[in-house]
Amino acid sequence: MSQRQALADEVARRLGVDLESFAQRRVEDWLASEAPMSAEQLVRTFSIGETFFLRHQHHFELLLAEAPRLSAVDGPPRALRIWSAGCSTGEEAYSIAGTLRGRVLFDLIATDLNPESVDKARRGVYSGWSLRGRVELPDWLRPEADGVVVDPALRQQVRFEVLNLMDDGFPQGLDVIFCRNVLLYFSPARAQEVYQRFLAALNPGGLLIIADTDPTPPPSVGFEVFWRGQARAFRKPGVRLAAPPPPPTPPPPLPPPREALVVALATPVPLQAADQLKEGLAACRRLIGARRLDEARRILEGLLKHHPLEASPNLMLGLIAEEQGRRAEGIALARRALFLEPDAPFAHLLMGRLLRRMGEPDRARRHLLRAKDALSQGATPTECAPSEHELREMIYEQLRHL
Ligand SMILES: C[S@@+](CC[C@H](N)C(=O)[O-])C[C@H]1O[C@@H](n2cnc3c(N)ncnc32)[C@H](O)[C@@H]1O
Repeated sequence: MSQRQALADEVARRLGVDLESFAQRRVEDWLASEAPMSAEQLVRTFSIGETFFLRHQHHFELLLAEAPRLSAVDGPPRALRIWSAGCSTGEEAYSIAGTLRGRVLFDLIATDLNPESVDKARRGVYSGWSLRGRVELPDWLRPEADGVVVDPALRQQVRFEVLNLMDDGFPQGLDVIFCRNVLLYFSPARAQEVYQRFLAALNPGGLLIIADTDPTPPPSVGFEVFWRGQARAFRKPGVRLAAPPPPPTPPPPLPPPREALVVALATPVPLQAADQLKEGLAACRRLIGARRLDEARRILEGLLKHHPLEASPNLMLGLIAEEQGRRAEGIALARRALFLEPDAPFAHLLMGRLLRRMGEPDRARRHLLRAKDALSQGATPTECAPSEHELREMIYEQLRHL
């Protein structure tokens, strides 16, 4: 077995981390180092501590909004039981505590694999980098020297422990688990195991909060998707916590196609059968690849006349509109594609990309997450879409910008 394979196996066994999806550079450094690593060094090298206060702010808004209901789910209000799993140096846990203090009673445990991170978390002293340019300090942080310290009373309210998510000993009877930006490095099988154990650790109705870029728990694990505004969480079934979301509003009727879309030029493609549609789309994909956008557009307009209920021509026209800077038209076309194929990942991706560029990050995020979830749940990419792998990369790329 090669040294690289041996390392990959060891890291997968001990940490759950899949090196294939992990920063290649660290692996190369490890291989280049003279002395073999001890288990502790291995743990430090492969635990990545990137974090900051109030990261993904919408999750704290969701927590605050749901807290009263969660704490009264099984009787009179009691302390909320919360776990920050993979808390790194503690910024996430203190953000949870700072959000809730004075509003809801809570019992908060925060754990990480890396003992050095846990020590730092316990000290509660940070450089300005942990604020990432936030100008207004929350009232539970005090400026000190070059950085900030956590209010000592708040510090007392968080219990930090070392815990490897691959080991036993998960806290139980929880109302909320935060596990953000941790499982994205795990192999899908390991991540699924952890999700299953999170489900078991939650009370009925309890919420799991993960980052947008973390893998989505597969439906077989048993979580329900839960939305609050633009924030998404995963809920253990059993108790209804919120009024059911309003039924999705059907998209507004589309404006009559613009003149340019109606005037199909003399079409070079005979347009009756389904495989002719396929051929037409393939030809358009080649033309788009060769940047012959106007030619592709003319063919697509012709295709649409004969196949008005097909999502793909709408979607490809949407792509061309995006390329040519006509974003509003791109959105109308992506919406039409979604009306015809509501789970089409590529259509959600296009919609998300256009909305992000039009300065609507919340709506964009929602579509990008729909794209990601649809792919995870086995939706096959639309005829004209890139491969599943490429689609996934493109979705992640967009989410990283939000
Ligand atoms: C990128 S940080 C995320 C910190 C915080 N949750 C956030 O989102 O800001 C990832 C953390 O996961 C921890 N981690 C990685 N593998 C782990 C494992 N098997 N068990 C527990 N923690 C792990 C790392 O030590 C690291 O501190």
